[in-house]
Amino acid sequence: MLGNFEYSNPTKLYFGEDALSYLGGELATYGKRVLLIYGGGSIKKNGIYDDVIKILKDADKDVFEVSGVMPNPTLEKLYEGCRVAKENNVDLILSVGGGSCCDYAKAVSVSTHCEEDPWEKYYLRMEDVDNKIIPVGCILTMVGTGSEMNGGSVITNSKSKLKIGHVFGDKVFPKFSILNPIYTYTLPEYQMVAGFYDIMSHILEQYFSGTDDNTSDYIMEGLLKSLINSSKIALKEPQNYEARSNIMWIATWALNTLVAKGKTTDWMVHMIGQSVGGHTNATHGMTLSAISMPYYRHIMPDGLAKFKRYAINVWNVNPEGKSDDEVAKIGLDQMENYMKELGLVMNLTELGVTEEMLSNIADGAFILPGGYKILTKEEIIQILKQSL
Ligand code: NZQ
Ligand code: ZN
Repeated sequence: MLGNFEYSNPTKLYFGEDALSYLGGELATYGKRVLLIYGGGSIKKNGIYDDVIKILKDADKDVFEVSGVMPNPTLEKLYEGCRVAKENNVDLILSVGGGSCCDYAKAVSVSTHCEEDPWEKYYLRMEDVDNKIIPVGCILTMVGTGSEMNGGSVITNSKSKLKIGHVFGDKVFPKFSILNPIYTYTLPEYQMVAGFYDIMSHILEQYFSGTDDNTSDYIMEGLLKSLINSSKIALKEPQNYEARSNIMWIATWALNTLVAKGKTTDWMVHMIGQSVGGHTNATHGMTLSAISMPYYRHIMPDGLAKFKRYAINVWNVNPEGKSDDEVAKIGLDQMENYMKELGLVMNLTELGVTEEMLSNIADGAFILPGGYKILTKEEIIQILKQSL
């Protein structure tokens, strides 16, 4: 049975090849002072930076910049962004990049006018925002996180090696997001496929919970099938617009909070993967792919009916003459084959994890109760060991 919920999503999306042409109209809503946030320089190479600057100048904005936002943005970098935003009293934060830039923009948005240390308040104590929020707009260049239409903001404290996400309420969601699938063409293959798996993982984290007949599960099976189909095409033809645009849209739906409504949701692959990221700074999607198969094989007996349904409805496994257990196992084997076909990282050793690190990584993984099994620290270590 669907649980009770509230639902609203305030992010306005502009999707398609001409999406950037709507930026000027959006800018008119906000004050003169804009903080432009971007990463290590990909937007300068592919020309997106010049196009955005031209629109900002045409709109007569004063532009301030924070560049060099790294994948897995750090707390030190957050302090820098807050300083620049405060000194220049900015009216809008415009993120141009992937999930890291968008997450970072949201963190700057809530932290600039925060009297306390944002790490303590938002990331360790998970408190709500009770200070001024600077509006955020997003121009997305990397697909996967769903950050363009949610309140998620993940920050890494490189001193304590804790990587923590705060899921802020809808006041912190981007006010608008510009999604042009062509912007994703210049992604290196490693990042592209990491993004594909991030999307898959977001869907599975929500799918593998509950035993009820829930509409969201049917929606997620559809999203998964479309993702599997389009990702295989995009791998062979990275500039296939149909495939890349489908994937961009699936990513947004996978984590714009809709399919989670009325479900308990699991999120343990992300909790463990995030801790791996805190200790290694590895690419987010690859931290998830490296641990997923051992994790799902571990919890499968506790959620057998759903794993059987997954095998049949997503991987087209024929259940005739097979036990539930056999069907579920074949489904997971097919998922593993698909992941290998994409070229995902399938073990933690490749990400620089060693056996001595496992206990600390397990300590940094928050244990959430929504999935089919509540893990103990020992089970997390066992899963990590199997992932080496
Ligand atoms: O820094 P630049 O030069 O832009 O290069 C980036 C970066 O190196 C590059 N890139 C992005 N767009 C490109 C491009 N290169 C060429 N052409 C383009 N069009 O790709 C690299 C990775 O970018 P990044 O933004 O780090 O990737 P992603 O979108 O996967 O974001 C990862 C961050 O998001 C968090 C992760 O934990 C991680 O910190 N997440 C946020 C979530 C949310 N807000 O809900 C949920 C996710 O589960 C995730 O935890
Ligand atoms: Zn993710």
